[in-house]
Amino acid sequence: MAVTQTPLPYAQDALAPHMSARTFEFHYGKHHKAYVDNTNAAIKGTPLENATLEAIVKSALESKNQKLFNNAAQAWNHDFFWHSLTPKAAAPSGRLAEWIQRDLGGLDKLKETFKAEAVGHFASGWAWLVVKDGKLAVTSFHDADTPLAHPGVTPLLTCDVWEHAYYIDYQNARASFLDAFLANLANWQGAGERLAKVA
Ligand code: FE2
Repeated sequence: MAVTQTPLPYAQDALAPHMSARTFEFHYGKHHKAYVDNTNAAIKGTPLENATLEAIVKSALESKNQKLFNNAAQAWNHDFFWHSLTPKAAAPSGRLAEWIQRDLGGLDKLKETFKAEAVGHFASGWAWLVVKDGKLAVTSFHDADTPLAHPGVTPLLTCDVWEHAYYIDYQNARASFLDAFLANLANWQGAGERLAKVA
């Protein structure tokens, strides 16, 4: 059974104008698909052929198969990213809101910290809101690196800061993309549901 590219949880034009259908055409339809296709090509005929995507990422990490890790981790990171976006953005609530206040100084401060981490990440990577040591934290990982490769880190929300994520809609203005993500697209409800599974 091959790895499948998870269907988007909304229509490709549902996040416009903050993220256009044209961006999804390339980002989901070509970049993400290529990571899935490359992963499937690499595992075909190997013991990983029927493994889950998570297991493939972890196996590639342990065997130091960097090419497979890059493609499988990117396939996984993109799945997580699509679910970190929503056309019906609402403020954090419940335990997530409490922890944001407790650990990160409130939602405005979290947004400021997240934006600084994402904009300040040199070249390609991913900004993440995670749970680590029982607390919320903001971090970033480089290139294809993923929370799956960091034991004790539970991801709640991510933003792709590879240039292909924003160039069509924002050209080189990564900060504007982050403003749009944090103001209009971030799926705090989904982040809260993930938090509820671990705390
Ligand atoms: Fe991407």
